Amino acid sequence: QILILDFGSQYTQLIARRVRELNVYCEIHPYNNFPELTPNIKGVILSGSPCSVRDEDAPYVDLEKFRKIVPVLGVCYGAQLMAQLLGGEVKASQHREYGRARLEIDDEDSSLLAGLSATSQVWMSHGDTIVTIPDNFNIIASTESVKVAAYKIADELTYGIQFHPEVTHSTEGKQLMYNFVAKICGCKQDWTSESFVEQTIASLRTKLGNDRVVMALSGGVDSTVAATLVHQAIGANLFCIFVDNGLLRKDEYQQVLDSYLHMGLNIKGVDAKDLFYGALEGLTDPEAKRKAIGKAFIDVFDQESHLIEDVKWLGQGTIYPDVIESVSVKGPSATIKSHHNVGGLPDFMKLKVVEPLNTLFKDEVRAVGKTLGIDPTILGRHPFPGPGLAIRILGDITPEKVAILQEVDAIFIGGLRKWNLYHEVWQAGVMLLPVKSVGVMGDERTYESVVALRAVTSIDGMTADWAHLPYDFLAEVSNDIINRVKGVNRVVYDISSKPPATIEWE
Ligand code: XMP
Repeated sequence: QILILDFGSQYTQLIARRVRELNVYCEIHPYNNFPELTPNIKGVILSGSPCSVRDEDAPYVDLEKFRKIVPVLGVCYGAQLMAQLLGGEVKASQHREYGRARLEIDDEDSSLLAGLSATSQVWMSHGDTIVTIPDNFNIIASTESVKVAAYKIADELTYGIQFHPEVTHSTEGKQLMYNFVAKICGCKQDWTSESFVEQTIASLRTKLGNDRVVMALSGGVDSTVAATLVHQAIGANLFCIFVDNGLLRKDEYQQVLDSYLHMGLNIKGVDAKDLFYGALEGLTDPEAKRKAIGKAFIDVFDQESHLIEDVKWLGQGTIYPDVIESVSVKGPSATIKSHHNVGGLPDFMKLKVVEPLNTLFKDEVRAVGKTLGIDPTILGRHPFPGPGLAIRILGDITPEKVAILQEVDAIFIGGLRKWNLYHEVWQAGVMLLPVKSVGVMGDERTYESVVALRAVTSIDGMTADWAHLPYDFLAEVSNDIINRVKGVNRVVYDISSKPPATIEWE
């Protein structure tokens, strides 16, 4: 595997994605928590950073822990840090070095830059630049404004590049990553979803033996794929629970339950609608609603898991982005962690935790799901928030409002599917607003609710653009909603991007 040392760059996860796309396993570790260098680790990549190596408390790593032992690639800050630590000089750039540039390659060894075109386009994004390099550094590429665009240290497999091969604007970045990971580090490209499934099932069998595992499923991709893996490893010793919180999409509870049964999972559906509606009664603050839903869920799950005798493990669909220790480059506080007070937790939380997907990115989870033969309609589903429709009904929640929103949402989502637009958007849903507006129907004046349709395009939900859906589609959906859903007389479309807006309205 490849170890990526994170200095806090927004692009660190992209580096990991690029390495994984080469079918090579890699892990991200914070710069101040370098793990033991095992023989498995074939190379180290130092990420970029929002900091400057000239800052007094600049994030730092002792290069001797890995340099000359395994190949090293410093990207941007990583390259500058190595240059500075080994006797070179880094200064603020005269002009901002940002955007596309052309590489002029002068790489005698032709190792890191092998196979790149003579004037490869790369993406620059840095405020500092390397101005002098130690004697044993060889410049292997320059651009018009950056002399030390890439270097190699003589007699060792240590490289630095001041551009970002991991972003798509570096058009041959993939070739560079391949050169480093496969050629220079010698990693075998055998980390595929098939090998992941095989190895994970084998290691789950060893780990879990004859123990019983309980898992809450949500109908979402992650928990479904995680449960399928555990199920294939231990069969009926996996006990799944699917809770109807009354805040799901129309008919979703039954559909999801049916598909879980169809997949052969040992699943119990729990109708807890009334408990959730009771817990939400009168609450209008979004965070208060989230807390009430979280607590109600824990109560239901605790009660249900007690009904399973002798359960030892809690299975979870946690994925890699949730567990990557985030780097705070603002000092040592990054290493201080608060410890949970285990005494006050519900019983199921005291179980040992098994998280088979905690090394995977979202698209890798989908690939694994495909390998496992999970229904593509489950794998291709839009993300849906845990608190469900409760955070799409602005203001207080009543079963009547939920019913209205379910109808409207079903028309919108059904329309997206009918018009083949469902997979064009990353997420879609409808907000029921706490306003009424005047309308006319026949000769009557109406005074009814307004709904806002929301559809976004995105990669990971961190940023998003509103989806430019066709007017004809919006017209049809709007008509359908107003004609068919009693209580709604106006439909609006949300044209805000994130940031500054968010995807949900609460
Ligand atoms: P925002 O609204 O922050 O949403 O742009 C980003 C993504 O997160 C989802 N989301 C939630 N998911 N519990 C969840 O499980 C929540 O409380 C929650 N709030 C927002 C949202 O649907 C989108 O995919």
